[in-house]
Amino acid sequence: MTDGLRNLDPSLRRAWHPLCRSSEVTEAPRAFTLLGERYVTYRSGDGDARVFLDRCPHRFAPLSLGTCEGDTLRCAYHGWVFDPDGVCVEIPALGENATLPARAKLKRPAAVTESHGMVFVAPDPPLTPVPSVEAAYDPAFQKGDLPVLESRANAGLLADNFLDMAHFPFVHVGTFGAGEAREVPNYTVIREGYTFTAAYEHDFANREDPGVAEGIRPLVQRRLLTYRYTAPFHLELAIEFLDSGGTNVIGFFLTPVDDETVRIYSSLWRDDLGGSEQRMRDAIDFEVAVVNEDLELQSQFEVLALPLDITAEIHTRADKTTVELRRILRDFVGDARSL
Ligand code: FES
Ligand SMILES: [Fe+2]
Repeated sequence: MTDGLRNLDPSLRRAWHPLCRSSEVTEAPRAFTLLGERYVTYRSGDGDARVFLDRCPHRFAPLSLGTCEGDTLRCAYHGWVFDPDGVCVEIPALGENATLPARAKLKRPAAVTESHGMVFVAPDPPLTPVPSVEAAYDPAFQKGDLPVLESRANAGLLADNFLDMAHFPFVHVGTFGAGEAREVPNYTVIREGYTFTAAYEHDFANREDPGVAEGIRPLVQRRLLTYRYTAPFHLELAIEFLDSGGTNVIGFFLTPVDDETVRIYSSLWRDDLGGSEQRMRDAIDFEVAVVNEDLELQSQFEVLALPLDITAEIHTRADKTTVELRRILRDFVGDARSL
């Protein structure tokens, strides 16, 4: 690992990754790739998302071409039927009451769960927790999902980018960056296991606050930014507007797809839109434009790897969150390898 952490590092099998959105799992089997392996997913009659390797154990045909029959999945090639636990329960070519081969079982990931509208998968027993966004449990917040984005990128570098505070005035000139202060205020990072939190308060020009035009509040106001990171590639940024009120939360959940591809699942939680669907759509469009500014740069990196050797790059006091990201991932990779 001289280059750093690549998308297909085997240690990443021991963590949770989003495979797809819950809404994409239906009765019709569908394939999604994660860590270089293709999985088939379908929703069984009991409502659970079922996930298996997309390969029939008979002749390795893609099971995603098959059909769901109640709780079971029938392969499109020779019609073998598998129950929701992946055990073969019928081989049409053998007729009725046949003895079925004991090895006729689908391979499945160690753990599957649904959270925040996504299906999370851990290929091997996970060391990290499932990411959890507090605002999702608060009824004051309305949720909006960004379209799923896919890009040439490294998941570690992209997590670094979403935690980074110093790039706003440069990368985001076309969206929110123009008026942003260049200096990053001092802040502390609090680590807990494979997660950390970092928070700071700063002044900003609140041009969207109608109270400014009405003369109720000054243009320059206070806001509190809180970053919460969960290894390997999940993070949440909460922006609390301390003067005008309201909180915006954005969550990023990154899937290492193959060596050079990342899928980005992102959702917004807002308590300041008055339930308006239109305002949520506008917020989503704006956020997509912001993420595309990031991807334009991230997709161009020559080496798609996140350095975990702290001496390889140059760090400043403005980079504390992204240094902690490297430390946690270095520990995670070490822990996963020692197992
Ligand atoms: S390959 Fe699936 S039943 Fe033969
Ligand atoms: Fe950015």
